[in-house]
Amino acid sequence: MVIPDIIIAIDGYSATGKSTLAKEIARTLGFTYLDSGAMYRAVTLFAMEKGLIKGSKVDEPALREALSSCPDIHFGEGNKAYLGERCVEKEIRSMKVSSKVSPVAALAFVRAFVDEKLHEAGSKGRVVMDGRDIGTAVFPDAQLKIFVTASDEVRARRRFDELVQKGTPTPMEEVLTNLKERDYIDSHRETNPLRQASDAFVLDNSDMTLREELTWLQGVLQGRFGILQ
Ligand code: CDP
Repeated sequence: MVIPDIIIAIDGYSATGKSTLAKEIARTLGFTYLDSGAMYRAVTLFAMEKGLIKGSKVDEPALREALSSCPDIHFGEGNKAYLGERCVEKEIRSMKVSSKVSPVAALAFVRAFVDEKLHEAGSKGRVVMDGRDIGTAVFPDAQLKIFVTASDEVRARRRFDELVQKGTPTPMEEVLTNLKERDYIDSHRETNPLRQASDAFVLDNSDMTLREELTWLQGVLQGRFGILQ
């Protein structure tokens, strides 16, 4: 079965397991996986290290200028994020970065900076991209769009467990507050807010295992493209 050179856009709220699903789809179909959230996180780390974020206030003119010398953001083995030569995977997933990323990602010039990279990566298709605005703004013509949701409690529990696994345990209350704050900022910003595309397939995975999600996806792929995995 030949798989067409499609773009699969997976959007949704924070910590809904978009990246786990996206990685698994990419692996199964032999597509490239691209984590747009990691790019916003890397830009945020860059801004923090340059001292351009004070409290929740971003020094916009300084960041705009600094971005022209931002080291290349790319992904290495195991989809680990790099800022230039440096692997920043661990730092970008920290609560420190999580607490600053949404105000940075709300800036139009930051979005344009990341979008350019996403367009370049997706120009030939055969990619699975996850984020907030992939199906609505970055690739509005993506051939398959999935919008993922899950209950607040499930999302907080998943992120809490992830942080424990990474050796950075964080109180559940703090995790939940951060998810809600980001969801609010992400869906209320002016530029390309988080929205469900009208032609997206909605997946509420609150009570689903990854295997069940993949079975659901198989049905979608089969119905839509006649692809049998
Ligand atoms: O993994 P998690 O769901 O916590 O978030 P992420 O996908 O790593 O994204 C981190 C943050 O980047 C989000 O809360 C958004 O503020 C921003 N983001 C965005 O604005 N647009 C995207 N396409 C992807 C992420």
